[in-house]
Amino acid sequence: MRALITAGGRGTRLRPLTHTSNKHLIPIANKPMIHYALAAVAAAGITEVGIVINPDTGEELRTALGDGAAFGLQISYVVQDAPRGLAHVVQVAEPFLRGEPFVFFLGDNVIVGGIRPFVEQFQARREDCHLVLARVREPQRFGVAEVRGDRIVGVVEKPKHPKSEYAVTGIYLYGPPIFEAVRAIRPSARGELEISDAHQYLLDHGYRVGYSEITGWWKDTGKPDDLLEANRFALDHLLDGAAPVIRGRVDDASDVQGKVVVEAGARIVASQVRGPVIIGKDVVIEQSYIGPFTALGERCVIRNSELEYSIVFADTQILDADVRIERSLLGREVVIRRTASRPRTQKFILADQSLIELC
Ligand code: TTP
Repeated sequence: MRALITAGGRGTRLRPLTHTSNKHLIPIANKPMIHYALAAVAAAGITEVGIVINPDTGEELRTALGDGAAFGLQISYVVQDAPRGLAHVVQVAEPFLRGEPFVFFLGDNVIVGGIRPFVEQFQARREDCHLVLARVREPQRFGVAEVRGDRIVGVVEKPKHPKSEYAVTGIYLYGPPIFEAVRAIRPSARGELEISDAHQYLLDHGYRVGYSEITGWWKDTGKPDDLLEANRFALDHLLDGAAPVIRGRVDDASDVQGKVVVEAGARIVASQVRGPVIIGKDVVIEQSYIGPFTALGERCVIRNSELEYSIVFADTQILDADVRIERSLLGREVVIRRTASRPRTQKFILADQSLIELC
């Protein structure tokens, strides 16, 4: 069994973060998002992994993940010339997959609890296709599966009147008939080869399509709020009841409570930290408050400021901010600071598609 993980696409909903970095390397609890997919695949006992990349951001992924040895995996890279849809991803990866059954895992899906049970069910039931479903509150926002017994009988994209509460997640298992399906379908109205059309092809041609239900936590991290929620969840599971892990220095005037990881070289001075929080290597926090569900990348500096429920990439500085910063995503080397200059105006230097919300 092999695995195919996506790391291409456009990432338009996460701009401007994705102007300068591949979406799958965005940190969730200080780990690149795609690490969660790699860990799930490795834990299921799969070692041969193909990662689908774009020509433009692929190099960054190759540098970050290498040959996969660090994960106990053998990673091959498959270049998709342009984002032409998920069924196109399967088409271009056919030589890597060599006709074997495989897990198709969208690299922007974060799941806790692993995928081993799904792989086992797929193999035990000898299915041609196995979709991993999740019960969701608003199924009309997803592809929705209609199920009968242990089979799927229909899948409808974003239906007005969903026939079940089962959303199709970004984890699929396939046998060889998927290659026939992705060759047979035609591009959709938006010009992409849709994986849902390939599923419909399999259903229409009498192939066995089964499913498993995710009972643990799962998130498709397409939008900023989803990233923050995935970060919240990953932080919450970081220590699971264990005492704080303090590898850096916390002075006597500081108070660190809850699930907190302070990495080596970090310094916390006269500050309050309320977990779940992860503080990266060589971060400096002075006279500040860091509230729950915050992840700070390496070498950040937070001084005289308050920060909560946020993801901060490496090398960013927040200095003397006189408002609490919350629900924020700050990229690398961002500087937010208060100056004493008059007149007292706001000054911004923002890249394309940045978002500032003033109150
Ligand atoms: P999407 O979230 O559907 O698309 P996207 O990542 O391009 O983001 P946006 O809609 O904000 O522009 O993609 C799901 C996953 O599949 C994600 O890991 C990117 C990947 N992908 C490819 O690798 N190739 C493709 O042709 C497409 C459409 C997606």
